[in-house]
Amino acid sequence: MATTKKNSTKGLEDLFLDSLKDIYYAEKKIVKALPKMAKAAEGEEVAAAFEKHLAETEAQVERLEQVFELLGKPARGKTCPAIDGILEEGSEILEEYKGAPGLDAGLVAAAQAVEHYEIARYGTLITWAKQLGLTDAAELLKATLAEEEVTDEALSALGEGGVNERAMREAA
Ligand SMILES: [Fe+2]
Ligand SMILES: [Fe+2]
Repeated sequence: MATTKKNSTKGLEDLFLDSLKDIYYAEKKIVKALPKMAKAAEGEEVAAAFEKHLAETEAQVERLEQVFELLGKPARGKTCPAIDGILEEGSEILEEYKGAPGLDAGLVAAAQAVEHYEIARYGTLITWAKQLGLTDAAELLKATLAEEEVTDEALSALGEGGVNERAMREAA
């Protein structure tokens, strides 16, 4: 929804709130996407990684609601075309590689693109929160960023730990 505030008065606080709405929308979309990815994955480890992160993502949504509360603002999402596009690419992998050797490697890569988007967003949000003096909000956002980073590393380890190789071997 467009703000009624004049453009000339929009500053860091507005950017912070808008980005918060963006990532809130994104996290809720991710909550819906992860079960589909877990169900589609061939490997148990890949499915388990998606399920683990689903539980974390649900808690991340609640953390964002706490941040909105700290700001005294209603928790509202704002359509994020970036995450819609990234998840759309993930769905394409899901359809186009169904039953194919490359499926899990593709799903891991798609999930990693999501994590990288989140890491970029949370990094900025934390910096802005600190500059705005929102210490408690910064702490909540930091807890989520740490989970996204661990997830990113776990996905890299899955890819390098056999998923990519399996995609090569079985396609040969
Ligand atoms: Fe997340
Ligand atoms: Fe994530």
